This record gives sequence, C-alpha cells and structure tokens, in this order.
Amino acid sequence: MPGQIKKPKEGVPNGVMKGLEGVMIAESAICKIDGSVGKLWYRGYPVEELASGSSFEEVSYLLLYGKLPGPEELEGFKRSLAAERRVPRGITDIIAEEVGVAADPMHVLRTAVSALATYDNEAEDQSLEANGRKCIRLISKVSTVTAAIGREMDGKGHVEPDPSLGHVDNFMYMMHGNRMERHKLDLVEKMFMLQAEHSTNASTFSAMVTASTLSDLYSSVTSGIATLKGPLHGEADEAALRMLLEIGKPGNAEAYITKALAKKEKIMGFGHRVYKAYDPRAKIMRKEVEGLRNAASEEVRELASTAMEVERVMKEKIPPEKGIWPNIDFFAGPIYAYAGIPIELFTPIFASSRVPGWCAHVMEYWASGNKLIRPSELYTGETGLHYRRIDER
Ligand code: ACO
Repeated sequence: MPGQIKKPKEGVPNGVMKGLEGVMIAESAICKIDGSVGKLWYRGYPVEELASGSSFEEVSYLLLYGKLPGPEELEGFKRSLAAERRVPRGITDIIAEEVGVAADPMHVLRTAVSALATYDNEAEDQSLEANGRKCIRLISKVSTVTAAIGREMDGKGHVEPDPSLGHVDNFMYMMHGNRMERHKLDLVEKMFMLQAEHSTNASTFSAMVTASTLSDLYSSVTSGIATLKGPLHGEADEAALRMLLEIGKPGNAEAYITKALAKKEKIMGFGHRVYKAYDPRAKIMRKEVEGLRNAASEEVRELASTAMEVERVMKEKIPPEKGIWPNIDFFAGPIYAYAGIPIELFTPIFASSRVPGWCAHVMEYWASGNKLIRPSELYTGETGLHYRRIDER
C-alpha cells in the first residue's frame, strides 16, 4: 500500500490547513498587518504616512532595501528606474499580436513579462547584484508593458517613456499620450503605493514558491501575475466596478445588495482573509472616493455615490462581528474611472504596482537561506488497485 498517512497534528482536523490559513511560511521584515485593528506597516512605517507624503519610487526603495532613501539615494534610484523603462521591440510586437485575440489583458501581461526574460542576458545570473538590477528592471518594465497593452487595446500606437518624469507620471503619460492633471495623478500614485506590498498574500506566496525552486526572478514575477489574476484576489477591483455599474445609481443599491446577500452571493470588494477590521488602505481611498461625489464628470459622481451607498447598506446588513468591510479593491473603480483608466486595465495596473512587493519577498527569502516550499497533502483516493491492460477492461 503506497504512503502511510501521517498522524494528524493535535487540534487540527486531519492535519489539513485549508487555504493555508494561519500557516506561517517564513520570517519577514517587510510588512506587518494587524487585521484585528486594521493596521498596516511597510518596514515599520504606517501606510497612512507613506501614502500621504511619499512616492511610488520611495516606497519601492523602502520595500527593496529596508530603509527610507536619503535625497541622493532616491535620486539615484529614480534615475535607475527611468533608465530601464523601455521594452524591446519584440515585446511590443507580442503585445500588438495578442491584444486582439486575448480574452483578458492579464494573459497578455503574463506572456509579455515572461518573454522579457529572453531579452535579459542576466536572467539566469543569481548573484545579489544581478538580481537587484532585475528588480529595478521589472518594476520599470511591467508598468511599460501595462501602458503598451492599454494603448494597443485603444488602437493607438505605443508611446515611448519619458525619463524626465516620475514613475506614475510617466506611466499615465504612456497610457494617455499626454500628461495627466495633478489631482488625478496623486490618486493613482496613492493606489500604486497602497498596492505595492501586502505580506504573504496569494500572489506573493506564488512568487515565493517559484523562487524557492531557485528559478529566476522573471519566473517568480510571472507566477505572481498569474495568481493575481483571479477574482478572489487582484481581479476583485474589476468585479467591484462591474457591480457598481450594474447597480447604476445609489437608489438601486439597497435592493441589489439585499437580493445578492439573500442568494448567498459574495459582494465584490468586501471581505478579506486577514482584515477583520476596516482595511486601512480602503480607509485612505474611501476618503478620496467620498470627495469624488463632487467630481466634474457625472459618471464619476454617480459611481462614487453608489459606492458610498453600497458601503452603507453592507454596514447595515452585515453584523460587525463577521468582519466583512470594504477592501482596497472596492474603491479602485471610482478612482480609476476618474483617472480615465479602462476597467480591463485595473488588474494589470495592480500587478504593475505589486512588483516591488513580489521582488522584496523573493530577495528576502533567498537571502534568508532559501528552502524549497513543498507542502504535503492528505491522500484520500483509492489504494491497492492493480493495472489491467486496455483490452481487459
Ligand atoms: N460578501 C458577502 N459575504 C462574504 C464576503 C463578501 N464579499 N466575503 C466573505 N463573506 C462571508 C462568507 O460568505 C462566509 O460566510 P459564512 O461564514 O456565513 O459562510 C464568511 O464571510 C467567510 O468567508 P470566506 O470566503 O470563507 O472567507 P475567506 O477569508 O476565505 O475569504 C475573501 C476572503 C476571498 C477575500 C472573501 O472575503 C471574498 O471572496 N471577497 C470578495 C472578493 C474580493 O473582494 N477579493 C479581494 C480581496 S483583497 C485583495 O486581494 C487585494
């Protein structure tokens, strides 16, 4: 009989930890979440402080190197990022070819980022220095790929990056072909900072599993992108906006939510594995969405007001002890609609902003003395069967 089943751990039914809930897979100094009170720190700094005074580049530096940069370090880091923005012609060709046929831009992003490895002659160099350079390349180029996908979806030509602009400013410039106004830019930059890192979430874990086989950084980030794609993770922002659009106006929210909850449907953009109190990132963006109820565009005003009403109804319908509050994805829709970003690009943008987090975790895991991540499973299938040839069955 193959494989003896191990005795279950005491107190855990069958030893199976479904969804790996509560399982710690590593020590990490990158991100701390206290889900019971809704608090989040990057490298010890509260995200509220970072989101209000920092930039995506500064947050990326902090995540990668473990400390806030001095003025010269930040300038040098910005220059390095800006110098790595361009992507080879082969990548824009892949994007042009795939956008027309792919059902989802995340398929294109995943393919293009994977293909980036073939243009990097350091792809297989696992030295600390080469991996550090690859982190910078990936942070820069994944955003360029996302912008190129957006342009191609719009039937417009690729816009070359402008190295004189900051990361998010340049990203929006490559998307729209012109500079975006300050307030919109600030909100998108906040989203980039708040989505840059979130401990061992599903996509980061996936990147770490790939890295733990001593595969390369491109493969790890590609795994992260693949895992982020699901509607229970990164694609929840798209699903939440689709729901808001379906609701249409604030007056329809109560009936819509009541019906959905009665059918035991999940309300997209609500709930979180770790936060049982209000997601602090969502709290920051909620304030901005509240302000968008006075935006110039009627569409944005309606979206923002509908979001606020959905939140009110959910609060009324769901007892607080269930711990189901809006997550950051819930407020992404009105923010991105305000910035003129199409819904199909929400998850690729999420991926672009999460690259520093994925890279920081992979680098930390390697530096901590890599161990192959290989969990076990409880076998519940048949045993003792014998093979019979096809003509005997
Ligand atoms: N709407 C309504 N009820 C919910 C929701 C929701 N969004 N989320 C959880 N619940 C309920 C479940 O129905 C379940 O109720 P029950 O105990 O009566 O059966 C209970 O809360 C626990 O739900 P689980 O799905 O088991 O909780 P888990 O921790 O596994 O799920 C998850 C977390 C997947 C995020 C879940 O809340 C969900 O599906 N939310 C909607 C999708 C979403 O917004 N995902 C984005 C997450 S944030 C991010 O990835 C950036």
